[in-house]
Amino acid sequence: MSGNRLLEFVQRMTRLVEQRPIAEEQLLEQAAPLMRELVSHDDWLPGTMAVPDTRYYQQHLLYGDPLDRFSLVSFVWGPGQKTPIHDHTVWGIIAMLRGAECARRFSRDSRGALVADANEEQLAPGDLDLVSPSIGDIHQVRNAFDDRVSISIHLYGGNIGRIERHAYSPDTGVAKPFVSGYSNTLVPNLWARNEA
Ligand code: FE2
Repeated sequence: MSGNRLLEFVQRMTRLVEQRPIAEEQLLEQAAPLMRELVSHDDWLPGTMAVPDTRYYQQHLLYGDPLDRFSLVSFVWGPGQKTPIHDHTVWGIIAMLRGAECARRFSRDSRGALVADANEEQLAPGDLDLVSPSIGDIHQVRNAFDDRVSISIHLYGGNIGRIERHAYSPDTGVAKPFVSGYSNTLVPNLWARNEA
């Protein structure tokens, strides 16, 4: 059955986004249990989507909705790897599959300067984190481990690899546009059985 978990998720998520118009809050509320279910088993992620790189954290596209209503990404952390401070510009649900990651949120003070939260949040397998412009969209994320790979599965309200968003200078808070793209050139075969 493991080969069908990804397909089932995509089918459920497609039915969910077909309910448009739907408010972001309701969408997140209904998509969160689907993500929780997806990462409650660690037997479905194709091996090619779990491969780290020695230099850069990897963003493997697992599925992209043809109408850009959502995308699903396998985020593979090599030991000690971390993102820049960045935003998403669309809603996102991060669900931990393997290992652990730490995220620090940032907000703007009254003068527009970036202020880091005092504490990092750590995600363990099964844990979820939410981002969006309406609930807080700027954060910096890192592998919690210096000696092992971690993997989280990310769901976004758009085709995240093609969206122009921003990385922020930790010193000045100045935003620099970037488009992340994807690490993989081939997407998984959702219809294959026992691919993991
Ligand atoms: Fe992020």
